[in-house]
Formats: sequence, C-alpha cells, structure tokens
Amino acid sequence: MSLQANWIKPTRDFGDACPVFTKKFTAAKPPKSATLTITAMGVYEATLNGVRISDYVLAPGWTTKRLQYQTYDITPLLKAENTLTVSIGRGWQRSPLAGWREGDTQPRTLQPPGLCAKLLIDNHAIETDTTWQACEGQTRFSELYDGELYDASFQAAAPEPVEIYPGPGLPLVPQQGDEIKEQDRLTPAAVLTTPKGETVIDFGQNITGYIELNLPPETSAGSPITISFAEVLDKHGNFYTENYRSAKSMLRYICKDGAQSYKPKHTFFGFRYIRLDDFPYAVKPEHITAIAVHSEMKRSGYFECSHPLVNRLFENVIWGQKGNFLDVPTDCPQRDERLGWTGDAQAFVRTAAYNFDVERFFTKWLADVALEQLENGLVHHVIPDVLGDGASAAWADAATICPWQIYLAYGNADILERQFASMCKWVDYITAHTQDEYLWTGGTHFGDWLALDSPPEHIKGSTRQDFLASAFYAYSTSLVVKAGKAIGRDVSAYEKLHAGIVKKFEAEFTDFRTQTEHVLALQFGLTGGREQETADALAAKVKADGTCLQTGFVGTPYLLHVLSENGHTDLAYTLLLREEYPSWLYPVTMGATTIWERWDSRKPNGDFQTTQMNSFNHYAYGAVADWLYGAAAGIQPLEDAPGYQRVRIAPQPDARLGWLAVSLNTRQGLVRSKWQYTEGRVRYDIETPSPAEIVIGSEVYEVGRGSYTFYG
Ligand code: BGC
Repeated sequence: MSLQANWIKPTRDFGDACPVFTKKFTAAKPPKSATLTITAMGVYEATLNGVRISDYVLAPGWTTKRLQYQTYDITPLLKAENTLTVSIGRGWQRSPLAGWREGDTQPRTLQPPGLCAKLLIDNHAIETDTTWQACEGQTRFSELYDGELYDASFQAAAPEPVEIYPGPGLPLVPQQGDEIKEQDRLTPAAVLTTPKGETVIDFGQNITGYIELNLPPETSAGSPITISFAEVLDKHGNFYTENYRSAKSMLRYICKDGAQSYKPKHTFFGFRYIRLDDFPYAVKPEHITAIAVHSEMKRSGYFECSHPLVNRLFENVIWGQKGNFLDVPTDCPQRDERLGWTGDAQAFVRTAAYNFDVERFFTKWLADVALEQLENGLVHHVIPDVLGDGASAAWADAATICPWQIYLAYGNADILERQFASMCKWVDYITAHTQDEYLWTGGTHFGDWLALDSPPEHIKGSTRQDFLASAFYAYSTSLVVKAGKAIGRDVSAYEKLHAGIVKKFEAEFTDFRTQTEHVLALQFGLTGGREQETADALAAKVKADGTCLQTGFVGTPYLLHVLSENGHTDLAYTLLLREEYPSWLYPVTMGATTIWERWDSRKPNGDFQTTQMNSFNHYAYGAVADWLYGAAAGIQPLEDAPGYQRVRIAPQPDARLGWLAVSLNTRQGLVRSKWQYTEGRVRYDIETPSPAEIVIGSEVYEVGRGSYTFYG
C-alpha cells in the first residue's frame, strides 16, 4: 500500500516536548481488514486504545533522501470506539548529529515533528488532517545522543489543533530494511558501589538499547530518577563516560504514584553499566532490566572451538554486530557519532553476512548509498549522509564491495541489478578525479585507519596513500567487471581499465613497505605474479615486527586470509591466538564483551588509550570472524555458484585448537564443518546441503549433498 496523505504538525512549537497526536474514530462493526500506514519526521510510537500497534522500535528507521513508511494490521486492536495516539521523538531525522562538529546547522534539526498517516478500515480511509489533535507528551525531551526525559506525572493540557503543512519534501517509500526490535533482555549481573560512592549496575555485556524500569507500589509521584550510561569503568572502578564525548546519554524519569513500568520510546544508548544518579530507594535487581535492540536479522552463523578466549572473541563480534545494526551499519552506538561509516561497513560486510541474514538490511542501506551518491559518482563517508564529505579510498568502495559480498552470500543477482550503476559511477569518479591515469593519486583519504605502524599521534598508519587508493581502485574495478558479467552487462571498458590499473600499479609499486601494503597487494592480485614471494615477505615482516599485527581498518580484514591462502596458516593461527597487545585476544583478556575501536582502547595498566576517539563497541576489527568461518572452518561461497548453490569447504586445522566447529544456515540449507584432533589424526565432519568441493589437505573431493567424515 502506498502512503498518500497530508502531513500534519502541532500549530505551536512544543519546544523539547515530544508531541502526541491523537485521532478518535469509531468502527461500527468488526471490519474484515484494518491497517495503519504511517511515517513521521523523527521516530514514532503508535498505540491503538493504549496498546502498541507494533513491536518495531525507532520506526521509521533512518534515511535522509527518502522516508520509509510502515503498514500495520490493526484489526485485532480495533474496538467500536477507538483512540489512536502517535508520539514522535526527534530520532535520526531531527536530533543534532555528528556532535563533534561545531554546532549543527543542518536544516534537518529545524524540521517540525510531522506526521503522515492513513487508516484503512475496509474501504473507509481516515487520513491525517485537521480533525486530528496534538498535545505535549510525557516525553519532555528526547534526542539520540543526549537521551530522554520522561515525566510520568505530567498531565497534558487539553488537546490542541494541528495544521496541515507541506511535510519534509521527501519521497515516501515502503519499509525496505529489517524492522528494529527489542531482542535480548539482560538482568543485572551485579549492583556495585564504586570507590567514588556511585551506585552502578553492571549488566555484564556491552549492548545497544535501553533499560526498563519496573517500580514497586510504594513509588510516589514526583520522585526523580536519573540514570547515566557507560561502556566501561575506569581503572579505579569508577563510572567513566568521557569517551561518549558530547553525547550526554542520560535518562531522566519522574515517577507517578504506585507501581509502574517505563522504557524510553525514542532513543537508545550504548552501555554495559548504568549509574543511578537519583533513585528513590535502594535499588533491587528486579527494578531494572537492560534491553538490547537491533534490526531483526535472522542469525545464520555459529562458531565454537576448544579455546575459551576465541569463543568469547566470536561472541564479541556477534554483539558488535547486534549493537551496530540498527537500520544502518554504524561505526559505534554510544558517542556523538553512531553514523553509517562506509569504511567500517565494507570491512565487516563479509563477517556480517556469515553471522546473520543481512540481505534485506544491506539492500536498504545500499539503496541509500546509491541515492545519496553525487552525480559525479562521489560516495559519502557516511550513509545516510550528515557530513557532506566523501570519496575516501576504502570507505567509498563500500559501494562496490558490499553489493558483491551480499550477492556472494545470498546468490540473488537483484542486488547487483540495483547497485550496478552506482558501482560503475564510483569507479568512474576515481577515473575522473585521479591525477595519474590508471592509479588513484591525490584526494583525501583515511588511510589504514588506526594502524599501529606510524607514530602514535598519527592515526592513519604508514601505508602509502596512493598505494592504498590505487589498490582499491583496482579492486573496485574488478568487482564492477565481475558484477557486470553476473548480470550480463558489457564490461569490456572496465576490463581494459582494470588491466591498465594492474599494469601501472605493478610498475609503480615494486616494493611493499607495510603489513597492509603486502596484504592489499596479495588480496587484490597486485603482486605481479609474485604471490608466494610477497606472502613470505609478509610473514617475515610480521615476525620482524614482533610476531604481531600492525594493521588498521583497511589491512586487518584480509591479513589472516592472505597468510593462510599462501602457506602461512600456522602464522595466521599464531596471530589469532596471541593474547598480548596488539592482538584480537588482548581485549578479551581485558574483559571486553564487544570489539574495541582500537587495539589498545584500554592499556594493560588499565589506562585508556585516549578520551577522544575510543569506542568499546566498534565492529571493524571483528572482521576476523570471516576468517574463522571461511578459513579455519573453510566454508566459502563460490563466485560461479553464489549463495552456496555449490560450496567450497576447505578447513584449515591447527593443533593448538583441539577442535573447531562452524554451522552456517545458508539459503540452500545447513552447512557444517567440524574438525578435531583425535589420536594423532584430524577428523573432519562435514555436512553440505548442496554439491561441494571439499578440500582436505591437498586432496579435493567433489561431493553431492550429504554428510561426510574424513581423516587427515
Ligand atoms: C569513526 C570510524 C570511521 C572514521 C573515519 C571515526 O570517527 O568512528 O569508525 O571510519 O571516523 O576514519
């Protein structure tokens, strides 16, 4: 159903208070069907006769160039006399965003809290118009970064008239992504008193969402509750919020009389700990529950092995994805950022598609990537775009990398059909903006973000900018060629371009200086036929660097892959299993429950790396999980049979792990790969729902659907 109705808004400015729109209507006899189609400028919660219409939270999601609307079946909630209410918070559409920038002059924040809705009861339509009313809601303030103030004692004055206005001028489109819903409920793991005397609740897991208050009958009206949120405690055990930067992340609640329950309607927080700044009595665990919310993606990948720290690392990757997949793939969920950083998304997309079914999620986000792309092909740093900047290598390449990975994981060429023009435009942008034909020179890039191979105050690593940009130019062009072929397009011009880039790259970059330079040359086929030599040089460099990684956002996702694909599986496991800084397991040994933004977000002595850019829930380095699925367990989609229509299963065991098991729910069915060291041999148990190429050591077995055991 399409949504064509007037936009309405309150006739006066309600200031910080969230408006609640109301419409009373009758439904004489039980209808055959009744639906509500709705969207809003901000985030809305709709109830019919006091009952929430849907469990979609933070609807209508986040887009900037278009607005999703939702259609709900309301038949079961309908009575003879009905009251529909819709509360609207600022949400993504109207909260100040990108809070580290001076002021937020985006006209977005000046938009009124508009509502556009249509009820259809059998054939009778009731649309937003001036017969609706609005009043100030009990949500007195609600923004994404700063949190919410809810006054349960507040009594609104009489409902006020609304007026029709032109609306935000955005095209309205039906819900395209996965709905955001409450997913996990966590009870307090501990109630602590910190050295400073603060009362803190530890939920034991860093999550994204909010808390629910369940207050007992003795609660009296007017009692204030103030709650602050934090991801970590400092080394003394005190509550620590500096890494939220300007995001206040506070929840304030004014009680009414008697037993009551409350959870925020229009905001979310990234947190493991909460501090009770005001609370009317000694808190009991049953008073507060944490609720994790994220887009409703179906879990598809499971991993377990003999090593508890690796298992926890994997869990941290899963939680990192849950916490950062709220309609948009974000860098982090807590500080004054929470943006759809393209570089982070391209680093993680392959892992994301193993962990969960993210086809719908990425289809929606990639539609916005294309929609927001400039006519000249520039892809913004963040999608939805609120920064206005763009065109960094390895960030903007999300436009080619993400569609390709989604196609490989689910085998549905629609994503390539939809994104192909955008993919080409991105490559054309580079061709038109480089200073040197067949390389990408010039421009402003983020480099190998947060790599360790540069002086501490430099956060871009030492990988040469032109090297990195040209390598991604080659890679993106190769993906345009592959994607075009998969959907029957003539890509001969891009094939020529790719050959030109490879030739020039190999002539220009004859030596590889950083770990990431080796990694990119290997991963993108740019070694000039010197794969083994380059992989051996990388292995030697890793060892010379102290047998540890030095890579940042760009090199890290491929580091273990290029080692294990070139005879250095042993070293790949050594890096995976390393527990000292820098490594994937170091944060786990420090008690991490999500993936950190920096290899040393927290130092071994408990100090924080920095206050300024230090998230404890940043999924980028969690991309290591795709090596666990794709190399350790060896389950990989094949380019000529995407979506696991045929599977390659090439497990790579290591005796330091006694056993390892992965199961992956694909569109074809369940793929399982397990190996185990037993009596001096390795036993492999493999199950495939489709024809598979199973590689055990140097043997290749072509098998049909079924379960198989091998010994190696
Ligand atoms: C974000 C990153 C992002 C980066 C751009 C940061 O502030 O949190 O994850 O990719 O900026 O370099």
